Amino acid sequence: SANAAMPSAQTTSLAPQANEASVLTILYGSQTGNAKGVANQLKEQAEAKGITVKLVNMSDYKTSQLKKEKFIVVAVSTYGEGEPPEDAENLHAFLASKKAPKLNGVKVAVIGLGDTSYEFFCQTAIDFEQRFNALGADTLVTRAELDVDYEEQATQWISGAVEAFEPEFKSNNQAGAQVIPMSGFAAAHANSSQYNKQNPFAAELSLSQKITGRDSTKDVRHVEISLEESGITYQPGDALGVYFLNDETLVDAALAQTGLQGDEQVTVGQETLTVRQALIEKLELTQSYPGFVEKYASATNNKQLLALTEDKATLREYIEARQIFDVIAQNPAKLDAQVLVDCARKLQARLYSIASSQAEVEEEVHLTIGLVEFDAFDSEHLGGCSGYLARRAEEGTSIKVFVEHNDNFRLPVDNNTPVIMVGPGTGIAPFRAFLQERDAREAEGENWLFFGNPHFTQDFLYQVELQGYVKSGLLTKIDLAFSRDQAEKVYVQDRLREQGEQVFAWLEKGAHFYICGDANRMAKDVHQVLLEIVTTFGGKNEEQAEQYLKDLRSANRYQKDVY
Ligand code: 2AM
Repeated sequence: SANAAMPSAQTTSLAPQANEASVLTILYGSQTGNAKGVANQLKEQAEAKGITVKLVNMSDYKTSQLKKEKFIVVAVSTYGEGEPPEDAENLHAFLASKKAPKLNGVKVAVIGLGDTSYEFFCQTAIDFEQRFNALGADTLVTRAELDVDYEEQATQWISGAVEAFEPEFKSNNQAGAQVIPMSGFAAAHANSSQYNKQNPFAAELSLSQKITGRDSTKDVRHVEISLEESGITYQPGDALGVYFLNDETLVDAALAQTGLQGDEQVTVGQETLTVRQALIEKLELTQSYPGFVEKYASATNNKQLLALTEDKATLREYIEARQIFDVIAQNPAKLDAQVLVDCARKLQARLYSIASSQAEVEEEVHLTIGLVEFDAFDSEHLGGCSGYLARRAEEGTSIKVFVEHNDNFRLPVDNNTPVIMVGPGTGIAPFRAFLQERDAREAEGENWLFFGNPHFTQDFLYQVELQGYVKSGLLTKIDLAFSRDQAEKVYVQDRLREQGEQVFAWLEKGAHFYICGDANRMAKDVHQVLLEIVTTFGGKNEEQAEQYLKDLRSANRYQKDVY
């Protein structure tokens, strides 16, 4: 009989020898929580079918367990240049190493999350499957490679996977081992407020103010949003999901280019609305993805576009130089409204690291947003959401938001623990939140900030506040790298290197180390310098230094929020 009070993992099989044989291990590697959400969904559905599930974050997985596995599902996302999320790095590397055990007879299924805007789409999922296969495991369910609008397809894949594992799982159970169906398990990850990605809160934009100087090469905004009457709470380290509206001028141009009036009815998901409204609110038309070109090329039977889609590299090059609006503008063709809509993927909220603490701003949330702008085809192009917030949305406008919790970027629980924060450019955002929070907590722990940007006079974000924190003593140390104020470029990692001895001393006395900002270059360069510092001042060889940083990470003392 069902026993709802029973813990969900491993203990539900009655015959002890069947325990190891009949567990479905779900390994997830998640950065922002999407893969974790998918893993949870799978767990619930599998358990409802009587499958015993062990749900494990890859970073907590003991690789010595691998030999005992029979059924494995991997739910993993991919970042940047085809890289695994941090939590997946170790297992990802282990499976390709000589230490990995043979896994003959093991059944595996992989669900990958990614973004077709990037070249190495779902690469980590592909790697995992290939590595498992190379070790002898058989694929039981065709790998899913899902784009940013993954929800529906994920649900479908999960049902299929549960169906595929159920008979395998049952026939593997030894005689006498009873499968106990469990249903009605309350979601252990209940949300703190009713608002989420699917059901965002209509908040009010209270302020969008340029905080870079008039001669700056960048337009960076300080944005304030009111959460009044929402009951939404967040913690420093969390991100805010923001929905936006596409530029109506560009939408009207696209309608004209496809011979549409704008009032034609279409459906997007479950919703019926006019095509104009769909293009403004529901579809991704700035950030580019190759899928649009492929669909649009065949929908319009455009020979030139069709030819271009035949070679992956050519297609990628083409799309990377364009927004979806450009593709339409350069390939006008009469089109059915619904057909046009079906070429595009659903608009995704943009995630911004929160730049405030509720201990300081209460029912507000602040963001630091760099406007994405570039010239192409003789016109100014703006990023979808940053363009909306910086240029189109007026103060007082209603904007849809939700909080995306990020437990991988958190202040130390102990207020006496020192922190080192490296946040050049808009990477300063979560550290403004950290500082507000530490201030409000009257935390005794020392705070050290590394900040950088092109020019002191133009780009010192939150200068007055930060200098105030230096004066008040909240900021124990601040190191600035204004890269273009002298002949030689100076970056945050150069300042870090100069301060190497102190940095190491702080780490040795228990400091937490945080990086926020550019993932592709900055975070990697900072990591390299950190290795150098640990080698030089810790008297360690390369391998030991790597281990030192790994240990920091395992202890949650080295955290990144990079993009
Ligand atoms: P630059 O644009 O003058 O080269 C925020 O964008 C700051 O980060 C800028 O000062 C920028 O310098 C700098 N930056 C660029 N590349 C970097 C890297 N690899 N590491 C650290 N900072 C970098």
